[in-house]
Amino acid sequence: MRVRPFWFILALATALALAAVVFSKSASVRAIFFADAVTLETKGYRLAIKYHCFRCHAHEGAGGISNPGSESSEIPSWQGFSFMMSMKDESELREWIMDGVPHRISSSRNYAQRQLTMAVPMPAYRQHIDRAELDALVAFYEAVSGLVWPDDPEAEKGYKTARDAGCFSCHGLGGRIDVVNKGSFAGFIPAWSGSNYTHLVRSEDELDQWINAGTCDRILNDPVAQFFQERQILKMPGYQGKLSEDQISSIKYYIGWLRDENAAGKVPQYQL
Ligand code: HEC
Ligand code: HEC
Repeated sequence: MRVRPFWFILALATALALAAVVFSKSASVRAIFFADAVTLETKGYRLAIKYHCFRCHAHEGAGGISNPGSESSEIPSWQGFSFMMSMKDESELREWIMDGVPHRISSSRNYAQRQLTMAVPMPAYRQHIDRAELDALVAFYEAVSGLVWPDDPEAEKGYKTARDAGCFSCHGLGGRIDVVNKGSFAGFIPAWSGSNYTHLVRSEDELDQWINAGTCDRILNDPVAQFFQERQILKMPGYQGKLSEDQISSIKYYIGWLRDENAAGKVPQYQL
C-alpha cells in the first residue's frame, strides 16, 4: 500500500510533537497540557502569588508580617480560623478581596480613621481580577483558613499528623496544592485531593508503598515513569521506620477524608 506524503508528514509531525511534550526539558511545556487538571485551590494559590497576596499575608497566608498602626500591629493571617473575626459569610470574603473591605465594615463610623491609622491597607482587586480568578482565590482561602475543616476527629488527627510530619511543605497546606516540581512528568507534584492523584495511587496497597518507600512498584516497572522520577528536583521521601504505623494510618485516613466529596466538613462553615 502506498502511503501519501501528506499523511506521512502529518503522522511524523504528530509523533515529534508528542515526543517534544513528553521529553521536553521544559516543565512549563508539559504543564500546559496538565494545566486544567490542577485543583481549584492550586489555581487560587498561583493567583495569590501572581497578585502579591503573599507579600503581605506571607507564604500560604501564614501571617506574621508587621503592619504598624493597625489593631494587632500585623497584617492578618489567613490560617488558624481568623476568618471568624473578619467575615460573616462568603459574600463578605468576596468583598474583602474585591473592595479591600466588606461593606459592613466600611459603612461603620470609625472606618476612615482606622484606614488612615494602619501603615499597609488591604488593596481592592476589582480592577485587576475577573470572576473565575476570584472563585479560585476564594477556594484557596477556604482551604487554608479552616473554613473547610474535617468535621471528624479521626480526619482532624490525620491532618495534624501530616502537618507535623512535614508533608505539607511539599504537598501544600492540607495536601491540596499541586506544587511545581521541575523535571517531573507533569511539572508538579499531584495534590492529594486532585484528579492526578489517581495516576500515582490506584489502591490502598500503592498508597502504603508511596508513604513507606517514596515510590511504588508500578512506577519502578515503567521505564518512562522511572526516567522522570529520577530527574525531578523534589523526590518523595520514604517514611518507613521514621513514622510509626499509627501515624501513617492516621495520615491515610485524612487522605481518604480529602478524597471523599461528601465527607463531613467539606462544605465551608462561615458560622461556627
Ligand atoms: C499590600 C498588602 C496586602 C496585599 C497585597 C493583600 N492584602 Fe489582604 N489584607 C491586608 C491587610 C492590611 C488586611 C487587614 C485590613 C483591615 O483590617 O482593614 C487584609 C485583609 C484581608 C482579608 C480579611 C482577612 C482577615 O482575617 O482579616 C482577606 C480575606 C484578604 N486580605 C485577602 C487578600 C487576597 C486574596 C489578596 C490577594 C489577591 C490580598 N489579600 C492581598 C493587606 C494586603
Ligand atoms: C521533599 C518533598 C516531599 C515531602 C516532604 C513529602 N512528599 Fe509525598 N511526594 C513528593 C513527590 C515529589 C511526589 C511525587 C512522586 C513521583 O512522582 O515520583 C510525592 C508523592 C506522594 C504521594 C503519591 C500521590 C500524590 O498525590 O502525589 C503520596 C500519597 C505522598 N507523596 C504522601 C506523602 C506523605 C504522607 C508525606 C509526609 C509524611 C509526604 N508525602 C511528604 C514529595 C514529598
